[in-house]
Amino acid sequence: MKPEDLERLSAESLARVSACADGSALAAVERDLLGKGGVVAGLLASIGGLEAADRRAVGEGANALKQTVLAAIAERETAFEAERLEMERGGDGFDPTLVGTREARGSLHPVTLVSRQLEDVFLSMGYRVLDGPEVELDHYNFVGLNIPSDHPARDMQDTFWCEPAPDGTDGADLLLRTHTSCVQVRALEVLEPPFRAIVPGRVFRQEATDATHEHTFHQMEGLVVGQGITVGHLIGTMRTFLREAFGREIEVRLRPGYFPFVEPGFELDAACPFCEEGADSCRVCKGSRWIELCPCGMVHPAVLEMAGIDTDVWNGFAFGLGVSRMAMLRYGIEDIRHLLGGDLRFLEQFS
Ligand code: PHE
Repeated sequence: MKPEDLERLSAESLARVSACADGSALAAVERDLLGKGGVVAGLLASIGGLEAADRRAVGEGANALKQTVLAAIAERETAFEAERLEMERGGDGFDPTLVGTREARGSLHPVTLVSRQLEDVFLSMGYRVLDGPEVELDHYNFVGLNIPSDHPARDMQDTFWCEPAPDGTDGADLLLRTHTSCVQVRALEVLEPPFRAIVPGRVFRQEATDATHEHTFHQMEGLVVGQGITVGHLIGTMRTFLREAFGREIEVRLRPGYFPFVEPGFELDAACPFCEEGADSCRVCKGSRWIELCPCGMVHPAVLEMAGIDTDVWNGFAFGLGVSRMAMLRYGIEDIRHLLGGDLRFLEQFS
């Protein structure tokens, strides 16, 4: 090898590197040029046989060749990597190496969480879960519940009527249901007694909103029809349900309450599950020890008869749980307007 041959050898080596089409070809060329018994090694081995004058030039040339080849190989590898990425991107600018954005995950609404828990409790007691329309007929929301059109009890619930307004002549009597009790009437029409049912659902009332009143909220109706049903069954059911829902025995009391579709009608209070006995600073019961939990009563015979059920054989009880209110109690939510306010910072707290 003469020093003048070094230039040719270098040009040939670089041409071989740049001719490589992929990583494995490049590896083979690298082995040939720089590996054991390769071109550079051969050059260095030949130095001993050279004339003294050429030794230095060939030695330096061999080292320079090695550096040149290494640099060319590194450059080629970088180009291969860029090509690979471009292929992955499909040429559309998508860069899989960038850090991804976190996918926002939803969570269950507190009303859904409480509603499902209550459903589970009643399902375990042999109840079936029913559904009904939110846009309802006057008949199911009022008349079939013993609230005829001239009955003063209609004033208890401020109703959203649908257009056209009911003027008594065109028979237009659609409304947004003011309670889930309308599904009592629907159930009585289609189910064969005996049966037990709950109806979770959304109800609507036209009223001024504040921390405890909302135009849209959630209830859960309960209806049991059987033979020889008594107030004792109603109380027993409520106690069982409270025990399951709160995980311990909770005392209840009944006060008289008026609803045209139950007789006798009651307001059922539960001993405040959130305060110690006698505590007068409880945020929930304000020291009264009782919380108003659920209006209820024995189904009025007129309701059963209108639905064609023989009241000599069948009777029953009904109750109306405030699911929105239970969610507020359960999670310490102070303003009912948070529930449907749609603020993600509020909703993200529940899962
Ligand atoms: N539907 C009544 C209300 O919303 C509650 C209720 C249900 C009362 C069942 C008695 C029996 O106010």
